[in-house]
Amino acid sequence: MDEPKGRLTKDGIRIYGEADFAGMHVAGKLAAQILDEIAQHVFVGQTTGEIDRLITQMVDDAGAKSATIGYRGYQHASCISVNHVVCHGIPGDKKLKDGDILNIDVTVIVDGWFGDTSRMYVAGNLSRKSERLIEVTHDALMYGIEAARPGNTFGDIGHAIQSYVEGQRMSVVRDFCGHGLGRVFHAPPNVLHYGRAGTGVVLEEGMFFTIEPMVNLGRPETKVLADDWTAVTRDKSLSAQFEHSIGVTSGAPEIFTLSPAGKFHPTYG
Ligand code: MF3
Ligand code: CO
Ligand code: CO
Repeated sequence: MDEPKGRLTKDGIRIYGEADFAGMHVAGKLAAQILDEIAQHVFVGQTTGEIDRLITQMVDDAGAKSATIGYRGYQHASCISVNHVVCHGIPGDKKLKDGDILNIDVTVIVDGWFGDTSRMYVAGNLSRKSERLIEVTHDALMYGIEAARPGNTFGDIGHAIQSYVEGQRMSVVRDFCGHGLGRVFHAPPNVLHYGRAGTGVVLEEGMFFTIEPMVNLGRPETKVLADDWTAVTRDKSLSAQFEHSIGVTSGAPEIFTLSPAGKFHPTYG
């Protein structure tokens, strides 16, 4: 591992410089490109295992590394979370059915920098209620990102997400959060997707972290299955998630994982 760059705040959050933003931009862009490319491989009858195999190949073809293969014993280049799976779904040989909604989460390492992003997809036809869930979740992420400015707090980010989602009569998952990242996968702080405005650590220019809200149509509670990874909604309600890796600047945050093709909606591509 290279020397860590930048200084640490009193809360243990690393502050990065301009060259570091450039490194994150390259890693984030590759992760986003892979999510663009994979859209055409999501269809009824496809397996999540085949989608993961294609992602593994794309990471390899780009000369990059998967951050998830070998991470705490995880063995795949993506997490694929279908319907009531909240996150950390393990790719396998189950075939996608008409109307299934799925989150595909990819983290790559390029030149030591981590790009972590996820989006929603649909196999076949998207129902109105799934579409609404997915739209609310994406909007929630973007409201969270808008709040990521120096002088604001992490509570402001959580509050922006939670107040919007609950106003739409949906719920925010509490059991998983976003995270600092950079030259490591998971670093301080924990980025909660709920909270009170004005509370928590104050954001500073040069902080890198993910925001990755999980939103349920039903109740927020989750449980982890016997495989020790797959998290599902306890009430079996549908769940959606979007994730971006961002860097705090003096103005609007830089979104490292924006889609180069402008794709983010599950019916695009
Ligand atoms: N990419 C996930 C995140 O957003 C982490 C997946 S860890 C894995 O933080 F091991 F499950 F892949
Ligand atoms: Co993440
Ligand atoms: Co992720």
